[in-house]
Amino acid sequence: MLKITSVAKVTQKVCRLELVDAPVSKHRFIEKTDGSLVYQMGNGETKKIDVRAFRTLIRTIVVAAKSHEVTHLAIDFTELNTLPKIKDKGESWIASTLAENLLLANYEFRHYKTKAKKTKDLAEVQILNLTTKEAKAGLERGKVVGEYLNKSRDISNLCGSDLTPANFGKEAQAMAKGLPLSVKVLGEKEILKLKMGALYAVGQGSENETKFIVVEYWGKGKDKKDPTVLIGKGITYDTGGLNVKPSGYMHDMHMDMSGGSVVLATICAAAKLKLKKNIVALIPTAENAISDKAMRAGDIIKTMSGQSVEVLHTDAEGRLILADALTYSAGYKPKTIIDVATLTGASLSALGQHASAIMTKHPELSETLVKLGEESGDLVWPLPLWDEYKQHLKSTRADISNIATNFSRYGGAIEGGTFLSHFAPKDVPWVHIDMAPRMESIGSDKLAKGATGEPLRLLLSYLEQN
Ligand code: BES
Ligand code: MN
Ligand code: ZN
Repeated sequence: MLKITSVAKVTQKVCRLELVDAPVSKHRFIEKTDGSLVYQMGNGETKKIDVRAFRTLIRTIVVAAKSHEVTHLAIDFTELNTLPKIKDKGESWIASTLAENLLLANYEFRHYKTKAKKTKDLAEVQILNLTTKEAKAGLERGKVVGEYLNKSRDISNLCGSDLTPANFGKEAQAMAKGLPLSVKVLGEKEILKLKMGALYAVGQGSENETKFIVVEYWGKGKDKKDPTVLIGKGITYDTGGLNVKPSGYMHDMHMDMSGGSVVLATICAAAKLKLKKNIVALIPTAENAISDKAMRAGDIIKTMSGQSVEVLHTDAEGRLILADALTYSAGYKPKTIIDVATLTGASLSALGQHASAIMTKHPELSETLVKLGEESGDLVWPLPLWDEYKQHLKSTRADISNIATNFSRYGGAIEGGTFLSHFAPKDVPWVHIDMAPRMESIGSDKLAKGATGEPLRLLLSYLEQN
């Protein structure tokens, strides 16, 4: 893993970074007369660098350093905390954002590669002039964020055949090891005992046993009360079920558990940072498979809430497993509930691939998340959860159907959120994050292809501040 260290003086072998007012594409190595090496890089224009450009700049530095096989790089912190549009963010934010983005940009997924890399890796980044307490603490926070966010990407990038629900449970136990967390992995017997008929139905076509992962962190002291509950969709592979997905839309569905891996990594990061908060992460995890045992379109299932659901489409499975998790969460008497799910392709149609969609009936929660999204880098944007949308889910044979009964192609992301609203405990502020748009990275992210680990940074900043 990339080492990030705060140093007073660089050693000769280290390549020093110098930001110059020039286009980002302009970069060059200069050997100084004393034998030291300098890497000059255009930063666009110093005065134009805002919080968004700052994150991209850090990532670009890593990409450039790697492509030139720079193994040891030094960055002068004073070059960053004096950027006019950045300095107001404070040294803690600047140092944390620096560490986070160094680690995120350095990440590569090599789990299935059989040959060693031919090029040298970036091994160390030395930070000069990191003097204040705030800056030092920020750097340490950023390292934890980067480490756990990358762990979430590792799990999401695994094949559906390898990361079964049972193995997901094992990953949760492994990740929580050494941290003040409790992990329970419930199996099908317990799921049926809890009357989680929807979670069970989604996984019933698979040989791989459905699980319900419960992680608790009581960081507030003695009283194990009022936690913020995070719920993450954990579909380890989504074939679409009997309403099978068309080819070209299935191969990346091993990442359909990204909501789950992100809430798991978030609660681990919160524990590692010793947040004085109570947090619970719930991950219903199943494989949406095809077999003669699989849930059929037209089936009517009984959810844990008691409400019956007509399954008009077996590919709208995420909302079914989340419904039971939402009902289960009520037992904690939560302060707030946040669910994170790769729920709909329709959210991509609405927002493209730059932001996740959020839906909530609490405007102040929505505002807070939009603001924290901007600050953390995990951009989110609201869609409405108005009652007008409820009529589309009225079922003739059951209480509610899992997709619009007229099979309309419009408003799918909102219909997903509306379905969930029938199961969210009443009187508890709840927000649904449809992270399908951010499931996979895109070119402008300057990240390795595959899972993004979003919205861990958003969730963690929310937990820190609320
Ligand atoms: N996991 C998918 C949504 C998805 C699509 C995530 C693309 C990431 C990228 C989800 O289970 C799904 O299949 N949703 C359906 C819902 C529809 C049947 C109402 C969809 O979006 O097509
Ligand atoms: Mn699906
Ligand atoms: Zn899915």
